[in-house]
Amino acid sequence: MEVIIRPTPERAALLTARIIAAELRAKPDLVLGLATGATMEGVYTALAAMHRSEGLDFSHCSTFNLDEYIGLAQDHPSSYHEYMRQHLFSRVNINRSRAHLPDGMAADLDAECPRYEERIRQAGGIDLQLLGIGRDGHIGFNEPLSALRSRTRQKALTPATLAQNARYFGGDAGKMPKRALTMGVGTILEARRCLMLVVGANKAEILARAVEGPITAMVTASALQLHPACRVIVDEAAAASLEGQDYYRWIFQDECEWGAYRDDPSV
Ligand code: PGA
Repeated sequence: MEVIIRPTPERAALLTARIIAAELRAKPDLVLGLATGATMEGVYTALAAMHRSEGLDFSHCSTFNLDEYIGLAQDHPSSYHEYMRQHLFSRVNINRSRAHLPDGMAADLDAECPRYEERIRQAGGIDLQLLGIGRDGHIGFNEPLSALRSRTRQKALTPATLAQNARYFGGDAGKMPKRALTMGVGTILEARRCLMLVVGANKAEILARAVEGPITAMVTASALQLHPACRVIVDEAAAASLEGQDYYRWIFQDECEWGAYRDDPSV
């Protein structure tokens, strides 16, 4: 795992977008795992800007989102289908037939889960999985005690997650679906590379537990410590509780793989 600290949330999001863009340029038919949430909005805005101004081409890539609420229609304003349409898909030249999310309205939800896994397999597996972290340490909707080898499945949301995401439902957690379909921790760990973006002081404590604490199903993001190629991009506020801050700063300043980004004052 590699942790990279940037001064502001904007620069952390832009660095994340630049890493995605570099992978997409190197492999136009990239299979990209996508995430939702407030943290990702800056990443998608930056990718849309690169599409407009630099011709970043999404036409050959495939995408697979981590999760979707159960029981929300695709065009419900708070569904993740709608989030993705609004923040990314409508702003770039992605082929919508290759942009996948789990179907939270499937008549047979248990059958939808292996079907989603099969679609990922048929696409050749995920090359790069973008991730955020929930305040309860989840990746996707893998809430505490999710098996670290879990696959795509239905999951009941925790009160912490309901409270965190109520803002998308007019501030009323009572209006939120209580269950979601989510890729499993095991599914996520099979991605060839993982890229987690974490910003804000309210994530500092859970980030430190995920990155530097023991691997535990209580903090499913901690399973990323097992991944052979996981980068974690954070801003100063989120980094505040990390013990290894000096080392992480040194990595960005001295390691040659980061040279191209170091010289760019916007990241
Ligand atoms: P957030 O969500 O970006 O809205 O904080 C992150 C997550 O729950 O994964």
